[in-house]
Amino acid sequence: EKGGYDHYMIKEIHEQPTAIRQILECHGSGELTDLDPGTLEGVEEVQFVACGTSYHAALYGSYVFAERGIPASTHLASEYATHERPVGEGMLVVAVTQSGETADTLAAIETAQRAGARTLAVTNVVGSSASRVCDDALYIRAGPEIGVAATKTFSSQVVALSLFADRLAGEDSPGGPVAFDSLPWGIQRILDTSRSRDVAERYRGRDAFFFIGRGVGYPVALEGALKFKEISYEHAEGFAAGELKHGPLALVTPASVVFAVFTGRDDEKLLGNVREAQTRGATVVAITDGTNEEVLRQADDVLFVPESEPAVAGLLANVQLQLISYHAAALLGRPIDKPRNLAKSVTVE
Ligand code: M6R
Repeated sequence: EKGGYDHYMIKEIHEQPTAIRQILECHGSGELTDLDPGTLEGVEEVQFVACGTSYHAALYGSYVFAERGIPASTHLASEYATHERPVGEGMLVVAVTQSGETADTLAAIETAQRAGARTLAVTNVVGSSASRVCDDALYIRAGPEIGVAATKTFSSQVVALSLFADRLAGEDSPGGPVAFDSLPWGIQRILDTSRSRDVAERYRGRDAFFFIGRGVGYPVALEGALKFKEISYEHAEGFAAGELKHGPLALVTPASVVFAVFTGRDDEKLLGNVREAQTRGATVVAITDGTNEEVLRQADDVLFVPESEPAVAGLLANVQLQLISYHAAALLGRPIDKPRNLAKSVTVE
């Protein structure tokens, strides 16, 4: 059932090229096959509500929405009810949830509906609670995900949200559709060539693992750290790179490893943050396509991704970070598919 893999997590990491092809085949032609045409009528603004990995996918999505000129904000579902948010006519509240059963997310949907908002579920599970409670549902079609650590569904959620942004943005909107056609190939290339196991081995036993990025590299940094702590039980934190100097830098020592997510946007600023960490003795592993020589010169170690536009580069970097987490946890003999204290769907608030 694990198809020859040791764990569901690594199987599901390897299923990403197929999962992406599935969603592109289904929704990639500019139409979103699941949605009633009326669902999107008059939508001018979007609020995402989500938890954990789905929150990171939503945050990533909100950058893509902003580039297409659609105001979007992302909210932790568990915090959504704690202060009233204005919900005008043109507002759509989008619940991003793999399982469609997360209690915090369902509670946020209820709050939004009480305030009069229209709601949409972006989910992997047909017939799930979120898909039934929301006015409409968009399915990410990633196939079943068994490992507690969400992997392929993150990638599929980001693609789904980007296609949704394309559909909402008019013809004359700023930016253009993200070109995902080469994404399955790019992910496959990483799966075939990644040096992540060696890198995980080299830095095994370090005190702390930090993940930094800018733009879409920021949600990827958050996601990289969540995955790392979730399955390896090592101390891992993700930060917006610019925030390092506002506090977290105090944690950085020669025993720290910093993973820096380069996407081709704001690379010079991120290099500045890399130097800040190196000055405190940290080892920096750059995730990069290798086209910026300064990044290659400055980094202590490198994990390569194929060259692509920033909105795709973040997804590719995320695959390298999934692999790093997997190998770090495997080297420590952790129960990767069922980490302690965690459940696949969290049905309590
Ligand atoms: O099913 P959901 O997407 O609503 O789940 C949300 C989180 O519980 C989930 O993403 C969690 O953070 C993952 N285990 C992380 O790998």
